Amino acid sequence: MQVIAFISGKGGVGKSTLAANIAVALAQRQKKVLLIDLDPQNSQRLHLGLEPDEIAGLVREGITSSAIFESPFGVGFIPFGRVSETELEEFEAQLKQHPNWVAEGIESLSDSRFDFVILDTPPGPGVFLKQALQIAQRALVVLLADAASFATVEKIKTLVEDYTSGRTEFIGLNFLINQMPTSSKLGHQVRLALCASQPKQVIPVSIHKDPRVAHALAFERPVLQYDPSCKASLDIQYVTDWLLDCTEP
Ligand SMILES: Nc1ncnc2c1ncn2[C@@H]1O[C@H](COP(=O)(O)OP(=O)(O)OP(=O)(O)O)[C@@H](O)[C@H]1O
Ligand SMILES: [Mg+2]
Repeated sequence: MQVIAFISGKGGVGKSTLAANIAVALAQRQKKVLLIDLDPQNSQRLHLGLEPDEIAGLVREGITSSAIFESPFGVGFIPFGRVSETELEEFEAQLKQHPNWVAEGIESLSDSRFDFVILDTPPGPGVFLKQALQIAQRALVVLLADAASFATVEKIKTLVEDYTSGRTEFIGLNFLINQMPTSSKLGHQVRLALCASQPKQVIPVSIHKDPRVAHALAFERPVLQYDPSCKASLDIQYVTDWLLDCTEP
């Protein structure tokens, strides 16, 4: 079982979109996949087709077999859950007391049941990222090809180093550029600068900016299913194969 955390220094870069779609792409390759939404925004339900009035999730039920929904897209899914502000504050306080709460939950699921566990996290530092990095073997940093995202690179690297220090199972982090404009000189310059500053850590394909991604979300389904041959879907397939090449002997 490999646990991959989708993380970012900046918000709104596409972590949740890519976590959901890469999970679906892995399932299409006959991998058993569990996606866990560790973000209080509880937005993965929009990608994985959960009923709008569903309030259940890991806050109420924990990370247990009975909390797993079978999404229509072949991926097991534990939502964060819909919670009030007070419930969220109490949950965060509980996580601070138990830094391995998420790790222990994932370890309690039968190891042979899933090939991959994908963790979606909120942007930047915090208790949810900390929990995710107590169990992830790989962190996938999603960023845009712009100066604002580039400026967060060293900070997120330091954060990952801090949160994973002493964990020998942690393989490392990779950078995945999302929303790459088709022809943008600045975008390509940022990509080159990233490759130069983080040699070997930048995933060799970027995900194009593609209006089909937003359309898919409006229909509450992964873009891979909504339009399998659009640019973003093809890029996601490529990144998934790259991930499998890194993982499998
Ligand atoms: N490749 C893409 N092309 C076009 N739009 C995209 C692409 N990827 C993501 N988006 C859009 O960008 C917006 C933000 O995406 P998403 O919610 O996945 O980001 P996030 O990093 O998870 O945000 P947050 O930090 O708030 O959790 C959404 O409207 C999504 O449809
Ligand atoms: Mg998100």
